Amino acid sequence: MMQTLNVALGERSYPIHIGCGLLADEALLGPYLKQKKAVVVTNATVAPLYLQTLTDTLTRAGVAAQPVILPDGEQYKTWETLNRIFDALLGAHCERSTSLIALGGGVIGDMGGFAAACYQRGMPFIQVPTTLLAQVDSSVGGKTAINHPLGKNMIGAFYQPRLVLADLNTLDTLPERELAAGLAEVIKYGLIRDAAFFVWLENHLDALLARDKAALAYAVACSCASKAAVVAADERETGERALLNLGHTFGHAIETGLGYGVWLHGEAVAAGTLIAAELSARLGWLTADAVHRIERLFVRAGLPVRAPRLGADRYLAWMRHDKKVQDGKLRLVLLQGIGRAVVTDVADEAAIAAAIEARYA
Ligand code: NAD
Ligand code: GLY
Repeated sequence: MMQTLNVALGERSYPIHIGCGLLADEALLGPYLKQKKAVVVTNATVAPLYLQTLTDTLTRAGVAAQPVILPDGEQYKTWETLNRIFDALLGAHCERSTSLIALGGGVIGDMGGFAAACYQRGMPFIQVPTTLLAQVDSSVGGKTAINHPLGKNMIGAFYQPRLVLADLNTLDTLPERELAAGLAEVIKYGLIRDAAFFVWLENHLDALLARDKAALAYAVACSCASKAAVVAADERETGERALLNLGHTFGHAIETGLGYGVWLHGEAVAAGTLIAAELSARLGWLTADAVHRIERLFVRAGLPVRAPRLGADRYLAWMRHDKKVQDGKLRLVLLQGIGRAVVTDVADEAAIAAAIEARYA
């Protein structure tokens, strides 16, 4: 059974289809492809698994697929790799109305989306996310980017896809560590705005880890519904959308500090969320019991809840590149309870440093 959600952005609104076997359904993709040619950006891991199925589907829709197969890894989310997409688009004489389809996880989706935003100032873009993280978060909402050595996702654009096709069957081949990383973002939605969903996750985590399709369908749909609502209200993150960054300011510092790809994004978000919870508790906003519940759920998901010892000063230095910084002041997403996140100025950097050190491994 397929579920369809809508990201309500006026004339740029688009559907998110969630279900099993969607990759093979030409009736879903066909109407979005104006040209007889589409570029499929993917990577060397995903291509052998799913490129042929997607190519066959496109063929049945009367569209020839032009594949662009990139190296796999967060360390390749760079200008150099982005240029390989542009080389391929130009080499294949793609036009402004040619569609770019991103087939893969968040790295492919973010880079493919940025390429689509830039090529001839914008070509149609379709997300076909194949990791849990991409299905619940990165494929929805139009944030596209590459990394810079000084900071994660620092160069990019807001550019919405025309369609998101989340085929739950692709999760069958996902390594366990990647499934866990996706769960970090799923748990995030419970923490920031949906206490009932957090409780549901406490009760259904084992089913998710066993890749039960009904549980996955519910978790992906619930996550996407949250994300779609937040994005519809604040597409360009002038307010509420910043809440989706719970744990990310610390997490991005971990990813940058350790070197891209050493910890997975979801792993860094998990440890970062526990630092945010620690700081929230120190401010008297979160009970010790709530911190314990959060920690327990991340541990059960197989995620790290302790931060690498990189030095609090270095954390703070990386955090100053955060996109939420305003007038040089750090702003953080903290918790006033499970299901209640806030964006707040924290002027006291010593308090932030103490919370980081308290969560060291
Ligand atoms: P990823 O794209 O690196 O994918 C994880 C790994 O799984 C890769 O090795 C990939 O090749 C492999 N893979 C993908 N699909 C597979 C499948 N079905 N079966 C087997 N292997 C598969 O990582 P990710 O966790 O999907 O995404 C992380 C990235 O997303 C980060 O760069 C992060 O910054 C970004 N992100 C963006 C947003 C956004 O709003 N744009 C939100 C969250 C994260
Ligand atoms: N992942 C954060 C956002 O899309 O805003």
